[in-house]
Amino acid sequence: MNDYSWCIAGPDNYLINFCMQPLTTTGTNTWFAACRVEDVPANGGVCVKFMDEQIALFHFTRRNEWYATQNECPHRKQMALSRGMIGSQGDEPKVACPFHKKVFSLKTGECMDGDVCSIATYEVKVEEGMVYINVDKLANIEQGTRNLQC
Ligand code: FES
Repeated sequence: MNDYSWCIAGPDNYLINFCMQPLTTTGTNTWFAACRVEDVPANGGVCVKFMDEQIALFHFTRRNEWYATQNECPHRKQMALSRGMIGSQGDEPKVACPFHKKVFSLKTGECMDGDVCSIATYEVKVEEGMVYINVDKLANIEQGTRNLQC
């Protein structure tokens, strides 16, 4: 199997995982091999699927940082955050939903517009050119919090 046999670019900015790489664990953390570094545009995002969950994965090259969040915007339930614009507000990295420009912290998931809604965030690590997302939280999503609308 070559490196690309399990992951191709789909429509828009989606990456579709055909066959699951085995999950890896370090300590109590479970890591999902999402894609390769070069699959994600500089200062941009892609959507990767982990089981039924869409995850927005961002390579914030200006800050030399990676972030992952749920792809669904809690405002109108659009699967859109991976196509949002990323930037910084002070020290805080943020993403703006492309639909109505609600802004969320990429670190905490809090809505930076003062709304009560928030998004799930996931830890990211890069090893040997592969991008891994910590998927521990996906088993424990607090639906009440996650589905609050702005
Ligand atoms: S759907 Fe994202 S801000 Fe409205």
